[in-house]
Amino acid sequence: MFFCTFAALIIIGILGMKVLIASDHAGFEMKAFLLSQNIPGVEWEDLGTYSSESVDYPDFAHKLASAVSADPNQYGVLICGTGNGMAMCANKHADVRAGLCWSTEIAALVRQHNNANILVMPARFIDKCTALDITNTFFTTGFEGGRHLRRVEKINLKDDE
Ligand code: RB5
Repeated sequence: MFFCTFAALIIIGILGMKVLIASDHAGFEMKAFLLSQNIPGVEWEDLGTYSSESVDYPDFAHKLASAVSADPNQYGVLICGTGNGMAMCANKHADVRAGLCWSTEIAALVRQHNNANILVMPARFIDKCTALDITNTFFTTGFEGGRHLRRVEKINLKDDE
């Protein structure tokens, strides 16, 4: 079990690396909770928001996703009320694969099959413990490659290609 977890951390490439995290006001408390937890291999860098005051989720999603887009070894976590606004914004960025997760099963699959580099969670629809379990699963699960690599490579194809 230890070896699998260690191997997965190497596979995902985040061992000892900073993971970016951001939320809007709806995700602020859940972000604060995750920041207070010890998640193996995850060193957080908090990109805001820094209070429960109402803000616009695109401002935070674009800030985090542009950093992930610029660095193939960078991973991130985005949290808003439903997760949908954050995911929509993040997936506008090149080479960003942001996946909305509300269970550990989906978190495992979004890594194994979709090679997601941003975990998105819906703060108004999951509890904090579930968010922690999802985050742990996401960062200890590797991409399976094989047929999934072919499919992931097709994500960026335009209609006329
Ligand atoms: C904020 O009220 C809410 O719209 C936002 O957190 C998110 O759910 C958007 O997708």
